[in-house]
Amino acid sequence: MYPQHRPRRLRSTPALRRLVAETAVRPEKLILPMFVAEAATEPRPITSMPGVVQHTMDSLREAAVAAVRAGVGGLMLFGVPAERDAVGSGGTDPDGILNVALRALRAELGDSTVLMADTCLDEFTDHGHCGVLDEHGTVDNDGTLARYVDMAVLQAESGAHLVGPSGMMDGQVGVIREGLDEAGCTETGILAYSAKFASAFYGPFREAVDSQLSGDRKTYQQDPGNVREALRETELDLAEGADLVMVKPAMAYLDVIGAVAELSNVPVAAYQVSGEYAMIEAAARNGWLERERTVLESLTSITRAGAELILSYWAVDAAGWLDS
Ligand code: PBG
Repeated sequence: MYPQHRPRRLRSTPALRRLVAETAVRPEKLILPMFVAEAATEPRPITSMPGVVQHTMDSLREAAVAAVRAGVGGLMLFGVPAERDAVGSGGTDPDGILNVALRALRAELGDSTVLMADTCLDEFTDHGHCGVLDEHGTVDNDGTLARYVDMAVLQAESGAHLVGPSGMMDGQVGVIREGLDEAGCTETGILAYSAKFASAFYGPFREAVDSQLSGDRKTYQQDPGNVREALRETELDLAEGADLVMVKPAMAYLDVIGAVAELSNVPVAAYQVSGEYAMIEAAARNGWLERERTVLESLTSITRAGAELILSYWAVDAAGWLDS
């Protein structure tokens, strides 16, 4: 008696396995998130994200050039301002750190990569929320939208190819599209954080941007258990003109990525967030996980689930591993 079917046959040599591989992660599909701090005089390590730093302008420029040379597909910039206030003025200041950095990188890199900017106020507000507050201390949706429009237009004019509204305000994609068009920035695209969950996995990011937040973001980010709501958010963003849609975090939300990919008629991105990075780095540093294999497996799984693009703090490392 012999088995009639032998799936192992196609696994018997590396060449066969390569030939029948269903999922390929490509360096040009990886986007590197980067932090630049206004007050930094040298790169500042982020202790909960070993290997990731808050850049100075100079180290940002160098690291950005190196990342593009390594083959990554794009860069997502986050600014860490020296001063914060209630309305996040630094985000709409042409001389604010994020806009200064965008101009410098666009001048340095031109169209050789895709420059993206975080279009959100939380890095710039003294209360750490993603929008402005009303008199009860709740995030004011429509008041925040006006701020996002100003921020997005300035980022576009400073050199961003894509703006990335990540604040989960209702109507943010629509108003930003209208604002960009009115300002003549018709070619600037919107990477919509469509399904962004109120996740504990953002923990290390709070250190990365010196977040001032106390409390949580549950009145605007989604409940981790809700997939139907994620699809509704995605449909709204598509209707409002999103050029790309994104799910965030990635690894704990593979089903959501799959569902969004089925629904979307624009490219789907996923954000492998700070906590996903910290977990694997911590385990690898203890010798509990093999770093390269684990990282590549995580990227493969996110791709298999349906994400075409992945924001990952490992983008440069992974590009190197995939190339060799
Ligand atoms: C908001 C924003 C956050 C992240 C990206 N954009 C923080 C939050 O929503 O609390 C998290 C990214 C990460 O954890 O890697 N501007």
